Amino acid sequence: GLKIATIGGGSSYTPELIEGFIKRMDVLPVKDLYLVDIPEGQEKLNIVTAFAKRMVEKAGADLRIHATTDREEALKDADFVTTQFRAGLLDSRIRDEHIPLRYHKIGQETTGAGGFANALRSVPVALDIAHDMERLCPNAWLINFANPSGLLTEAVLNHTNIRAIGLCNCPINMINDMSQKFSCSADDLFLDFVGINHLIWAQKVLLHGKDVTAEAIEKICDASSKEIMANIPEVHYSPEFLRSLGMIPVSYLKYYYLQPQMLEECLADSKSKGVRGEVVKSVESELFTLYQDTDLKEKPEQLARRGGARYSDAACSLIDSIYNNKKDIQVVNVMNSGCNLDLPENAVIERNCVIDSNGAHPIQIGHTPLKIRGLLQNVKVYEQLTIQAAIYGDRDAALQALTIHPLVNSAETARLMLNDILSENQAFLPNF
Ligand code: NAD
Ligand code: G6P
Ligand code: MN
Ligand code: MN
Repeated sequence: GLKIATIGGGSSYTPELIEGFIKRMDVLPVKDLYLVDIPEGQEKLNIVTAFAKRMVEKAGADLRIHATTDREEALKDADFVTTQFRAGLLDSRIRDEHIPLRYHKIGQETTGAGGFANALRSVPVALDIAHDMERLCPNAWLINFANPSGLLTEAVLNHTNIRAIGLCNCPINMINDMSQKFSCSADDLFLDFVGINHLIWAQKVLLHGKDVTAEAIEKICDASSKEIMANIPEVHYSPEFLRSLGMIPVSYLKYYYLQPQMLEECLADSKSKGVRGEVVKSVESELFTLYQDTDLKEKPEQLARRGGARYSDAACSLIDSIYNNKKDIQVVNVMNSGCNLDLPENAVIERNCVIDSNGAHPIQIGHTPLKIRGLLQNVKVYEQLTIQAAIYGDRDAALQALTIHPLVNSAETARLMLNDILSENQAFLPNF
């Protein structure tokens, strides 16, 4: 049987993962699942573990759940390691989202200045985990969910010897949304994705192999088409814009294409209900109250209020296809290696890949359309400078990264925000 270690096991999302493994018990024989957390997360870990055990028992699954704060015990001889840690905990996310707003910039935990601060804290943690894996389970796969997901995967692949694949639930949610819009099954569709994590476009939509991209765009132009990610404000593009783009943009692209409107939404929300991290705090406390009900033995529907809904479909399908050498196609974060000719070879991209027991093999893209190339290259360069800043404590790289980010675009604002970010995160930045 398989041994899996999940780092950040106290997450309120963990029941999704458990459900995913239970569903696949006949094809994916997971024997031991280690939920790993830090002492600060012990209380959440205990609640989630007790609930997970009830889920497993009810399903009659032959899966042993272990809770530990000893990462080494969990990593030793593991087959797969999944990561869902939040470096600095939710309070750091709330700070990440507030700091940019003070300067009239978008506060978001994965893109812009908020995502930058999150990256500075998270890169050292991801590298630590991968270095432990080099000693304790050198052949294991690292399946990363922690954000910023693509950036962390790139840091691990370029700076350790561990085989890593990054995940996001956005592609699956986009496919599901389209299947509802076309009243078909998700398997009938193929969305041809190009880009990087939280910055992807579906260049083409195929239904039973037939190009229906133009119809798909009309469907998202429709005023009744709703925002699909629970964590992103409901703001709409003009049909003119979407038709001229000719592709389906991931929800996160609204922060770039509709920057002023999204900033207004973020500012208004921060005054009325708090930044997203503050909203999540109350959703989370509600979830943990539910999880403590000993009658609860299945994932509650309230979990859908978190933005990460369906993430376990991505994680468990990926593990299934690697373990069973399935050679099916999934959208994951992998090394570019010449797939996208407009991005560096050593950049991580989010792309449709064939998944087999040797990992994820991206389907060749070639060049990208001119209309998306500049933004894509700009944000990738920002990511590469940010990785350099995080690993080497390089303040010059940090300032340049933040300055060129399209959601900042100002040397002076970047300088002031960087001072705030570094001073408010001192405890979490060992390299600075
Ligand atoms: P959370 O705040 O519940 O954190 C999860 C757990 O990580 C907590 O119990 C915390 O104690 C623990 N933790 C913090 N530092 C740790 C460390 N060094 N080692 C081990 N555990 C540690 O977070 P969440 O809202 O459940 O999200 C978890 C992560 O997953 C975040 O990084 C989030 O951005 C990410 N996420 C990604 C996607 C995606 O699409 N890639 C979807 C959902 C969530
Ligand atoms: C989406 C993104 C994730 C992100 C999450 C935030 O699912 O793909 O990368 O972590 O939303 O959701 P939250 O409920 O934490 O705001
Ligand atoms: Mn994501
Ligand atoms: Mn506040």
